[in-house]
Amino acid sequence: MTKAANTMWGGRFAAGPDAIMEAINASIGFDQRLAAQDIAGSRAHAAMLASTGIISSTDADAIGEGLLTILSEIEKGDFAFSTALEDIHMNVEARLRELIGDAAGRLHTARSRNDQVAVDFRLWVRDQCDAAEAGLLALQKALVGQAEAGADWVMPGFTHLQVAQPVTWGHHMLAYVEMLGRDRSRFADARARMNLSPLGAAALAGTSFPIDREMTAKALGFDAPMANSLDATSDRDFALEFLSAASICAMHLSRLAEELVIWSSAQFRFVKMSDRWSTGSSIMPQKRNPDAAELIRAKIGRIFGANVALMTVMKGLPLTYSKDMQEDKEQVFDAADNLMLALAAMAGMVGDMTANRESLKAAAATGFSTATDLADWLVRELGLPFRDAHHVTGSLVALAEAKGEDLPDLTLAEMQGVHEGITQDVFDVLGVENSVASRTSFGGTAPVRVREQVAAWKERLG
Ligand code: ARG
Repeated sequence: MTKAANTMWGGRFAAGPDAIMEAINASIGFDQRLAAQDIAGSRAHAAMLASTGIISSTDADAIGEGLLTILSEIEKGDFAFSTALEDIHMNVEARLRELIGDAAGRLHTARSRNDQVAVDFRLWVRDQCDAAEAGLLALQKALVGQAEAGADWVMPGFTHLQVAQPVTWGHHMLAYVEMLGRDRSRFADARARMNLSPLGAAALAGTSFPIDREMTAKALGFDAPMANSLDATSDRDFALEFLSAASICAMHLSRLAEELVIWSSAQFRFVKMSDRWSTGSSIMPQKRNPDAAELIRAKIGRIFGANVALMTVMKGLPLTYSKDMQEDKEQVFDAADNLMLALAAMAGMVGDMTANRESLKAAAATGFSTATDLADWLVRELGLPFRDAHHVTGSLVALAEAKGEDLPDLTLAEMQGVHEGITQDVFDVLGVENSVASRTSFGGTAPVRVREQVAAWKERLG
């Protein structure tokens, strides 16, 4: 049986599409998520068409009212989406015709689905920038809470995942607060750059109708209309900026997730996840698994994937619109959903976790973590060149290692056997608390500096 031609564009078609054609062509299965944005864009457009005298205000009022009815139908789940009508734009317009009759046909004056979808998608992605910022803010607050509680708790700092120098828990938490702060500003930058309106670019070339693009831009919260109609209908760089910012942010989340997985292991015991953020094993009763952290680490792959996928969709397209661009949405939807979920889960987990102060401190004292403090002491107190101090310290570490001891366990006599100038005072710098307290350079790990940064962040985050 031959299907009837599409009522929205089928004037020159004798027959409707093949079922497979319809399946590959339709986007309504996913772009119905743009319904609110589509209706906002159409309402702004209709009001502008009336104010410029392009359509009558009676028609514009009917259109505006009808669109609100449709919005509430969709919100209530009372709307029957049709694949034959392809996408959200045509589903809404067809329903509008059912509701208000012929006046509905005037809505699409001086407009195309090409500028329509560009405006809808921009509005949607703009909201996601705001949501990402809010999610990041909540996570930053949770991390600052941890930093404040443990500003002077000593833990090992690592390089190569080998114990390097003692640092403070607060300092480690604040490292992530800094990263997430840059993530926030990336979303804010992307938002500011995307906040221009494509509406009125029409199919690609603009329109001969006397439209007022400033008016629609303003109604939709955009700063101004985009200056080139070809650009307005054909670029998706705003979505790519969102995905790029999301990818970098996701990378940060993944690193933190990885640390939480390691830290909550029996070997580390640095943190304990709360019951609310742990899962058990169906066979091993002792297990307490950090599943949320693992899933955050894994979900990041989808966000990177979306970024690469959309870059690839866009990279070979001649100007202006090509149907390839319909493939932009699912990637961004999935990435945004998973980013928001990851942010919320991370904020919950971090806010609820308990650092094990004793384990942190015990680990901080292993691995000759104060060897650098010893070398610095030799430079400062005995005037040794740093290279020589490094060598002397290396010999002391070897000695302690051979005895199965840590540096502070060596006797003064043993130390003097390696360098005669060493005095009892050296023991002051070998303790981990003294080590961190001494690192007072700006940006350093000393509790005084950490407390300053905590105060500054609390002020900034509100
Ligand atoms: N569903 C389409 C999309 O998402 C809307 C634009 C269609 N434009 C066109 N010229 N066929 O890209």
